[in-house]
Amino acid sequence: MTTDSTHPGLYPALANSETDSAIASILAQIDQAQQTLTGVKGPDPDLIASSEPCIDQFARERGRGLFFPVMGAGLGRGALVAMTDGSVKYDFITGIGVHSFGHGDLDLIRTALLASMSDAVMQGNLQCNADAAAFSALLVESAAPDRLKHCFLTNSGALSNENALKICMQHTGGAARVLTFEHCFAGRTTTMCQIGDSAGGRQGIPLNTDVDYLPFYDQQDPEGSTARTIACLDEFLRRYPSQHSCFMMELVQGEGGFNTAPREFWIPLLERAREAGVPIWFDEVQSFGRTEELFQFQALDLAEYADVVTLGKMSQVCATLYTEALNPKPGLLSATFIGSTAALQVGRRIIERLRSGDSYGSDGRHARLHATFRRLAGTLLEAHPECFPSMFNPGQTADLDEIVGGTGGMMRLTPYGGEGSRVKPLIMRLLDAGVMAFTCGHGPFHLRFLPPVGVLQDADIEAVMEIVGSVLEDES
Ligand SMILES: Cc1ncc(COP(=O)(O)O)c(C=O)c1O
Repeated sequence: MTTDSTHPGLYPALANSETDSAIASILAQIDQAQQTLTGVKGPDPDLIASSEPCIDQFARERGRGLFFPVMGAGLGRGALVAMTDGSVKYDFITGIGVHSFGHGDLDLIRTALLASMSDAVMQGNLQCNADAAAFSALLVESAAPDRLKHCFLTNSGALSNENALKICMQHTGGAARVLTFEHCFAGRTTTMCQIGDSAGGRQGIPLNTDVDYLPFYDQQDPEGSTARTIACLDEFLRRYPSQHSCFMMELVQGEGGFNTAPREFWIPLLERAREAGVPIWFDEVQSFGRTEELFQFQALDLAEYADVVTLGKMSQVCATLYTEALNPKPGLLSATFIGSTAALQVGRRIIERLRSGDSYGSDGRHARLHATFRRLAGTLLEAHPECFPSMFNPGQTADLDEIVGGTGGMMRLTPYGGEGSRVKPLIMRLLDAGVMAFTCGHGPFHLRFLPPVGVLQDADIEAVMEIVGSVLEDES
């Protein structure tokens, strides 16, 4: 492994001034091209005609169209991204949370260029370069080094979850049941789609995994909902003693609606699971990096309970972290691929930048960005109260706590009382107006934003919320 921190992963003989000047010249060109991206722009009629065939052909070949009928052109600048139809949009969903430093970040491009000089495009479990070891070491050091000693890398969140489940099952001697929460999401493999609490996600899939769902925290009824969840957990543990392989949870539910819960909710549940010998697994595939700490279990001070943690998306390469006690027997985990050399290096750089900047803490960058989002949601609520009816008090306008949710770079806005038939169509209206966003929740439905927190500016949130306001106004 090269020790040259300015050329991570590069073969030492290649770390020289010729490499530097070649890369500098490429970056200068990209920088120049990026100067053309200054704000939202509508499509160019000529470019629509040339971009559509590719989008249509891809849809035919996939058997279904892309959710957004647009494609990236390969150029971006921060939260802005250029599309093949000539339009420029704010990307506030970032491939569902992947592009945490936005589009065209020159430092990450430089990292990827250096990685592309390596001998191998892909690294695997039979043979890898030091890039994989460096990535893994950084994750172990950043998570809970005294507890989560092991890290197994893979290339999707669902596979990191599959590995987690296998580890838990083996540890519990083949216990078959899974304890989790209503409205959870776990990925799309045949097992993960059974765990995820969405009927559409497992349509036609034979069910061979027994899943016990607990109700999630209800911020309208903190004490009552905590008591109900505890009672439900006690009941499952009583009914199926020693039959649960794991207690799996998203500490911030992603697909389920950016639902959060305070430490007081988690503690009694985690204590009970621990007492019953059920391994505790935090699925941080969506929350990793985005909240007020690198991991949400850190933000909630729950590290001592973590037996297994999975992560992905903004890490570029996904991982399963686990304790020594859960380290499985040889043969349980492997796969051809770990990830690409570029993904390993870029993922590592992202984590380093997140950790070394002021991203975290209750007054860190992510918290401040969320505060700006909340303040601007308040402005929208004042300007368009008719768009924000209360879900809980019929006939009344919602309050700010009702219409804003999530934490840090997981931002949720709930117009129209969360009515799906009105919220879902907003996504395409927003796209046309220059904002890429998504929904979350299974009813109520919300607007979901996973903006590029690493480079996001207050001005970006202001511009996007102004567009959201004008779309809501048009719809009223
Ligand atoms: C909480 C959670 N777990 C697992 C996954 C699956 O990750 P992937 O889509 O990378 O397989 C996701 C994806 O959205 C997720 O949000």
